[in-house]
Amino acid sequence: MISTKRSISLLLIFFMSYAVYADKKYIIGFSQCTSADIWRETMHREMLIELAFYPELEMIMKDANSDNNQQIKDIEDLLKQGIDLLIVSPNESKPLTPIVEKVFNSGIPVIVIDRNITTEAYTAFVGGNNYLIGKEAGNYAARLLNGKGRIIEITGLPGSTPSIDRHRGFQESLSRFPDISIVKSVSGKWNWSDAKTEMQKIITEKIDFDLVFAYNDVMANGAHSVAKENGIENKYYLGIDGLYGEEGGIQYVINGMLDATFLYPTGGEKAIQIVHKILKNLPFERENLLETVVIDSTNAKIIKLQTDQVLSLQGKIENQNSVLEEQISRFQSQRDLLILSLVLLGLNVVLIVLVLRAFRNKIKANKKLELQKQQIERRNNEISKQRDQLIEITEKLEEATKAKLRFFTNISHEFRTPLTLIVGPLEDLIQSREFPVELQKQFNLMHRNSLRLLRMINQLMDFRKLENEKMKLQAAEYNIVAFLKEIHESFVEHANKKNIDFQIQSKEDKIFLWFDWDKLDKVIFNLLANAFKFTPAGGKITIQLVKEKPVVKSISDEEVLIRITDTGRGIPKEHLIHIFDRFYQVEQSQDLQEQARLALQGIY
Ligand code: FRU
Repeated sequence: MISTKRSISLLLIFFMSYAVYADKKYIIGFSQCTSADIWRETMHREMLIELAFYPELEMIMKDANSDNNQQIKDIEDLLKQGIDLLIVSPNESKPLTPIVEKVFNSGIPVIVIDRNITTEAYTAFVGGNNYLIGKEAGNYAARLLNGKGRIIEITGLPGSTPSIDRHRGFQESLSRFPDISIVKSVSGKWNWSDAKTEMQKIITEKIDFDLVFAYNDVMANGAHSVAKENGIENKYYLGIDGLYGEEGGIQYVINGMLDATFLYPTGGEKAIQIVHKILKNLPFERENLLETVVIDSTNAKIIKLQTDQVLSLQGKIENQNSVLEEQISRFQSQRDLLILSLVLLGLNVVLIVLVLRAFRNKIKANKKLELQKQQIERRNNEISKQRDQLIEITEKLEEATKAKLRFFTNISHEFRTPLTLIVGPLEDLIQSREFPVELQKQFNLMHRNSLRLLRMINQLMDFRKLENEKMKLQAAEYNIVAFLKEIHESFVEHANKKNIDFQIQSKEDKIFLWFDWDKLDKVIFNLLANAFKFTPAGGKITIQLVKEKPVVKSISDEEVLIRITDTGRGIPKEHLIHIFDRFYQVEQSQDLQEQARLALQGIY
């Protein structure tokens, strides 16, 4: 099974590779000197058609409106925008050269199209061979003029290389015909209206001419229209560009307005092909001079027909292109959908893995729990078994204890009669006073211990009664002061022997209370016996009797507090909580020894 981590990283790799693949776009900046004429429109159209074959290329075009400064700014802007390649058709070469050099030197490839710059700082050049066009135009004019005539030359912008090169070629060709002269050379700045203005001036100046050679068809048309207005259109008119369409040179030739035009390809298609090669590091030609051809009455119609065909084919291609684009976009959306589905599937896989893992962990935990449950059950069973056993043992023990007690009580009961029989004659002996003092003392000791034994047996019987809940309180009104003094009296001799200061303190002589004489006697006796047990020689034991208001809410208005204090070591803190536990003793062995000792002395 694929681990969660692995499946997540696979998904990430898939995503990243898709992102890299999808984002690999090249931005082409295209600085066009102008787009105000059909030649430039054609160039742009050709570029767009060609770009359709390279979806990774994206072109941003800026139109400088035949303004050098604007074009410099346009290129700066494109640079800032971040471009991978620059196509530039400089308005005029000199003013544009530094900015083109800057782009080239910054490492961005530069393709110069149509018009050139004055340095070699470009990656490739695409354009017609202007020198050759000029030369061919010269030869053509010479042929038309039969080697003799007057020519008006209408150039383009003087600073643009096509104008310079065409002029050079034209002049060079005409230099072979001494009877041909250029009577006037004016600049129509590549546009119709300037050409018209210049032509009007020439006509106004009455300059005689046989042929007008304009450096493009637009200017030739302008000149021709002015000439026509002035009724002198019956001259030769030559132009350059040879564009297709109603306002193109081919149509002008067919109409008879122009005698000839020289094809000047825009190079738009070629430029994009070179862009692709440069960006993909494929081999490419640096100088791409495009062929020219003369279009005159002999071939204009054929060329038009061919161009028609080419254009209709192009239209079909464009249609197919749009169909293809539609399909591509459909494919892309399907691909995106597929990717989304894959991502969701991947997430599902991750989720399933997580759920399965959680499920497995749950099963494990459940098993563990089940095991623990079983263990607990087993232990519980054991515990309840042990508890049952314990109950059984306890019951048996209780039964045994009861039986022992019963036996013991019975025996004790049996002791009472002989003991009473011992005490009676002993008392007689003591009272007869016939015996020497020493014997009397012995009788007394025997008497006291017999009484003690009798009392112990009685206590044992009481305990049994208590156990069987048959003991009853037998209260009557007695003087508690007299009661305590009597007990005090019985301990005085013992106190003297132990060298213990034993006192009873009471402000009153008589306080009558309701109490069970016998039981309270046992309580006080027990407390004093313990006090004597743990008070060393030289110590002090005190019985205090205080009459006071009840500390807590009580049934009577007054209470009597009996406090027995001693200077013994006291009961350790940890044993205090057990003082009301039945039979609880701090040190049993010592206690027993003490009991035995006291018994010998006839006190306990
Ligand atoms: C279009 C144009 C063409 C000419 C070329 C020269 O703007 O004037 O007619 O051939 O530019 O660069």
